[in-house]
Amino acid sequence: MTSILSLSSVLLALKLCSGEWCYESQSCDSKCTGPSEWKQKYLQCGGPNQSPINIITRKVKHDPKLTGFTFDGHEDIFNMSVENHGHSAHFTLPQSVRLRGGGLSDTYKAVQFHLHWGEDGGQGSEHSVDGERYPMELHIIHIKEKYNNLSMALNDSTGVAALGFFFEMSSEKNQKLDRIIEALGKVRYEGNSTEIEDFRLADIVPQADSLSYYRYSGSLTTPGCDQSVVWTVFHKTLPISKNQLMSMYKQLLFASEKPMTGIFRPVQNLNGRVVYTSVKSHCLCVLPNLITLFLCLFCVFGQQRCVFY
Ligand SMILES: *[C@@H]1O[C@H](CO)[C@@H](O)[C@H](O)[C@H]1NC(C)=O
Ligand SMILES: *[C@@H]1O[C@H](CO)[C@@H](O)[C@H](O)[C@H]1NC(C)=O
Ligand SMILES: *[C@@H]1O[C@H](CO)[C@@H](O)[C@H](O)[C@H]1NC(C)=O
Ligand SMILES: [Zn+2]
Repeated sequence: MTSILSLSSVLLALKLCSGEWCYESQSCDSKCTGPSEWKQKYLQCGGPNQSPINIITRKVKHDPKLTGFTFDGHEDIFNMSVENHGHSAHFTLPQSVRLRGGGLSDTYKAVQFHLHWGEDGGQGSEHSVDGERYPMELHIIHIKEKYNNLSMALNDSTGVAALGFFFEMSSEKNQKLDRIIEALGKVRYEGNSTEIEDFRLADIVPQADSLSYYRYSGSLTTPGCDQSVVWTVFHKTLPISKNQLMSMYKQLLFASEKPMTGIFRPVQNLNGRVVYTSVKSHCLCVLPNLITLFLCLFCVFGQQRCVFY
């Protein structure tokens, strides 16, 4: 009897862990495939253009083609389904939510958004800036308009446009996140789903037309790590209180039924890639003559993109 029991628990453990990819936080008796081994099963995870990365602000280059974005459908009201996918929860977006401009070659339509977080209010973002990580990161995934689904878009090196927003801990709670947090409480187990009624993306994402951002070529941050993603990481952070952060990840469970914490991939090598920025790094306001003074004032007041770090 005991041997049958232990056999079935071994089989259960194998079913839950073997072969499945997992995050570093899911030790899972070391039977699941952690980020450092992803490349053994998913070849692209070992490729040269992987995400996330650490953005070194001293090395970013200004690209004048990185103009403001146009968000379409961000004010549209829709019912949004939310599902626990075992490694995160996906919030499904309608195709009427679109993305143009921002130096993108095409119009992209939204697919879903999801969040990456850590544990106990610690670091949980995937990207970092000068080595600093944030407690949470929002990813909004879009595909080129002409593709019917994500897998078709992944066959194109610029098929996917991902937007990343960092969250920063604030003393006040961010009321706009209440419905997101409430929905996560209803999708505790893998496969559970629910709906948020009358949602607008503009409820959580700021108007992006004048936001400054970083841009680089990268990949999905989960297996198969397809190198098909044009990444945009915004400078502006969104607020979240510590209590909100805690209630977010206390509610969800991995497929293994352990608490869903530490859902981020470690940063990957740049391998010579350049990170661009929409921001001009300096306003050279040094020469004290009338013309440069005028140019300088123009630079400071006339251009939204001329911001100061
Ligand atoms: C959202 O769902 C509610 C309840 O099912 C329904 O009454 C409403 O019309 C839906 N709204 C949209 C925009 O589909
Ligand atoms: C991927 O792209 C190649 C060439 O661009 C094409 O031949 C192939 O059919 C595409 N595959 C899918 C699944 O779209
Ligand atoms: C959530 O998933 C669990 C495990 O699969 C299942 O037992 C439960 O009924 C689901 N709950 C809902 C509300 O669907
Ligand atoms: Zn992501």
